[in-house]
Amino acid sequence: MCGIVGHVGAKDSDRSLQVVLDGLSRLEYRGYDSAGVAVGATGGLNVVKSVGKLANLKAELEKLGELPGRCAIGHTRWATHGIPSVENAHPHTSLDGALALVHNGIIENATALRQELTRDGFEFVSDTDTEVVVHLLARTLVEELRRPMPEDEGVTGVAGDPSLGGGAEDAAGVAQDLDRNLDHDQAATSDAKNNSLLTPGIPADSLPTAAALTRAMRRIMSELHGTFTLLAVHEDAPGVVVAARRSSPLVIGLGEGENFLGSDALAFAQYTRRAIEVGQDELAVVTPTHVTVLDIHGNRTEPKTLEVDFSADRATKDGWPTFMEKEINEQPRAIADTLANRLDAEGFLTLDELRIPAEVLRTVDKMVIIACGTAAYAGQVARYAIEHWCRIPVEVELAHEFRYRDPVVTEKTLVVAISQSGETMDTIMAIRHAREQGAKVVAVVNTPGSTISRESDAVLLTHAGPEIAVASTKAFTAQITATYILGLYLAQVRGNKFIDEIQDYLDKLAEIPAKVEDVISRGEGVRQAARMLADTASVIFLGRHVGFPVAMEGALKLKELAYIHAEGFAAGELKHGPIALIEDGQPVIIVVPTPRRPELHRKVVSNIQEVRARGARTLVIAEDGDEAVNECADVVFRVPPAPTLYAPLLAVVPLQIFACELATAKGLDVDQPRNLAKSVTVE
Ligand code: M6R
Repeated sequence: MCGIVGHVGAKDSDRSLQVVLDGLSRLEYRGYDSAGVAVGATGGLNVVKSVGKLANLKAELEKLGELPGRCAIGHTRWATHGIPSVENAHPHTSLDGALALVHNGIIENATALRQELTRDGFEFVSDTDTEVVVHLLARTLVEELRRPMPEDEGVTGVAGDPSLGGGAEDAAGVAQDLDRNLDHDQAATSDAKNNSLLTPGIPADSLPTAAALTRAMRRIMSELHGTFTLLAVHEDAPGVVVAARRSSPLVIGLGEGENFLGSDALAFAQYTRRAIEVGQDELAVVTPTHVTVLDIHGNRTEPKTLEVDFSADRATKDGWPTFMEKEINEQPRAIADTLANRLDAEGFLTLDELRIPAEVLRTVDKMVIIACGTAAYAGQVARYAIEHWCRIPVEVELAHEFRYRDPVVTEKTLVVAISQSGETMDTIMAIRHAREQGAKVVAVVNTPGSTISRESDAVLLTHAGPEIAVASTKAFTAQITATYILGLYLAQVRGNKFIDEIQDYLDKLAEIPAKVEDVISRGEGVRQAARMLADTASVIFLGRHVGFPVAMEGALKLKELAYIHAEGFAAGELKHGPIALIEDGQPVIIVVPTPRRPELHRKVVSNIQEVRARGARTLVIAEDGDEAVNECADVVFRVPPAPTLYAPLLAVVPLQIFACELATAKGLDVDQPRNLAKSVTVE
């Protein structure tokens, strides 16, 4: 959670603030309790913070007028330590105001460090763990700045205390580190060399502070426990951002004469498609012309480059009133794009990204799907299909519960981690646990280059494009599609299905995008029903077989968007307790299976009759032509016929539209519901 953005531009560009605000707008889905920026120019840092959404910060900045600067960092917060307030908002600053820092993550030893710093005379103005980091960095920076500079280098100092990781060797090492830049702008190299013998890209006047700040950042990384992405700027080093990361995301965008930093590439996708990933326990020194990435020991690393494939315009509302509505409507494309280019010339399903050898996949004797929230419901849907096609037992486990129950995972277990963001900490920790037990992990993610994709053995990308609304919609249908492709691939590799059978399943899957389009076009009836129920206090959702996880997903959408108590039950479970909840007028939404599965269909129709007999208002999702529901439904939302296993891709759409419309009718912000954040990067 929390979005962080940074920019360093040419001396006269003065556009850093604007770039950072643009980036924060795109990352606001990561948190929106408060926001702030620090803008660095020759002559000092300007820090502006505000409570609430980014619009409040922008209004504050407008009052202040122009804030020119050649570097800036910004933050949009999802509160972990301390209430949303100006004091707790980032950036946090050192006592002298010369150093500003933003942070995403949680510092687990913040209390002990705070006590130590307080004993040292540091005064705290916030309740955050981040303020601990800025004071720790400031204290360490003072020590580093005190090291005399060697004459021949003009940068770094004499022997220090080796226990601090410093000393002449270390100091010289940092200068060399800074010299080993990733040169992505050849034109800049000669200028840079003229500026400084050792640190191309860093203006000579910024060099001592930038070098000391880099050393200080590297030292404090060893003192911090927990997770962090940190961006720091100092008033004596305008034009330089020093960054560090451990278990929280950081991507650096490479521009022409300017560089960008962001929690994800969306932050700068409108400016550049070239980016590099900063690895675990690495730090980066970013100037307008150079990016140097170092490991925690100060050795330069070769960062992985990536092409940002999200076009920035897919991250705008594009004329839709909300991202949520846009993303619901993008589902046909998300499913089609996820299905595209999966067959080779002979018609065999190929998964280029799946780097696990076929012989290993043939030995798999159990699958475990790990995920959270909506992604976990996608996993529950996938279980029905994969068990049916591959005859492999599939468990679905909430990622945050997985490792605590000491799961039986062996080298023959295939773990499938599903995540839109690829940054969900609960899922990352579960992946680490599974791999420690020897399991192979396939990640089904929507964000290329994300932590989950990097930490897994193989990646299967969903091609839903950026999902900005906090409530997941198109990621869900793309995740089901991707896991179905995985299931069919396993069935092919393991010989559970013949190629013509697989082809038949794929052909029918390829018909789904047009059917989803059809469901979306029938949305007005759903919206009308939602508006009528705007005052309801609770809604019950029922489903059976693959309709059960769809019911739970429908309930989750309503909870998170409309703040209405909603519960999804297996329809068969009703008589074992939940039916006691039914009273006169209680809205119950039922996902009805196709009448072509009569044994399932009959039972669900009976369940509708049971709740209706007790006064429930029944809203039913049923296939075209299913007349049996008419006599027990108050309202019917029709969907086109589809094979049973594919029905969730259609049935979920009215539930998404329902929640979105009901929340809108209540005047709520459907893109940014209260208390939530898009990426849950803390455990
Ligand atoms: O990014 P992930 O798919 O890993 O996120 C998992 C959940 O946090 C997410 O699906 C959450 O439940 C959504 N807000 C649901 O709409």
